[in-house]
Amino acid sequence: MRLLDGKGIAAVVRAELAVEIRALTGKIGRPPGLAVILAGDDPPSRTYVRNKERACAEIGIHSETVYLPAAVGQDELLALIDALNARADVDGILVQLPLPDGQDSRACLERIDPSKDVDGFHPVNMGRLMLGLPGLRPCTPAGVMEMLRRCSLNLAGKRAVVLGRSNIVGKPLAVMLGAKGIDATVTVCHSATPDAAAHCKEADFVFSAVGKPESVRGDMIKPGAVVVDIGISVTDKGLRGDADFASISAVASAASPVPGGVGPMTIAMLMGNTVQAFKAHARKVRIEI
Ligand code: GUN
Repeated sequence: MRLLDGKGIAAVVRAELAVEIRALTGKIGRPPGLAVILAGDDPPSRTYVRNKERACAEIGIHSETVYLPAAVGQDELLALIDALNARADVDGILVQLPLPDGQDSRACLERIDPSKDVDGFHPVNMGRLMLGLPGLRPCTPAGVMEMLRRCSLNLAGKRAVVLGRSNIVGKPLAVMLGAKGIDATVTVCHSATPDAAAHCKEADFVFSAVGKPESVRGDMIKPGAVVVDIGISVTDKGLRGDADFASISAVASAASPVPGGVGPMTIAMLMGNTVQAFKAHARKVRIEI
């Protein structure tokens, strides 16, 4: 079985971005800027944010993280987003999810200037995705698509099953897979699907974004299928994906591991979105790039 090496591909993407950023920083007279808001002390969120900071530093993106207490008021959070929206040196704004209980994450995400929405979660960017218009795309599904593209895995005419319908992964991924030019035939399964395994068995590609280990097993998939594992669970045995890797290895033609698969691609796409926003902001103030 072929391993889809997201970690290696993400390193190539970041190296390409580093070259582009060096040239752009010279022309524009400042580096791209990413601001991350982290409220509360959710340990996985802290790890994600640290990984994002490290990735930025490595390729020449200026990043700053605003740490807020879990009890921060909604007004204060919205005022911070307003201030970051107004800053000319901030191209991307990311509010790390989940926000602490009691916070209205939708209100925060909708407050971000869509041109700085490097997570692609704003309704304007989600709407542009639905319409097939250019815009900032959610990083995890964009990372999945980039990984498949760089592995020369063609989806046209193939059956794809997406497990999970979250706003962050399942929903946007289903739209990307079915978009003109990609041309997969897409089925979305979710917690109310009576027999998800039967759908998986018919699929050439299975994309699992459930967040529960062993959601995808070898006996659920078609021989030769491609399994893209987008789940992450913290277990007492360490980080686990959705797939039972041992049993799918015997049946699938290719699969992405966890860790080292889609996760690093997500961060690489965040870097890419920040550069995309940086270029758009430069053009807006008539800097030729
Ligand atoms: N928490 C888990 N995944 C994500 C993500 O892609 N973006 C943000 N902002 N928070 C997350």
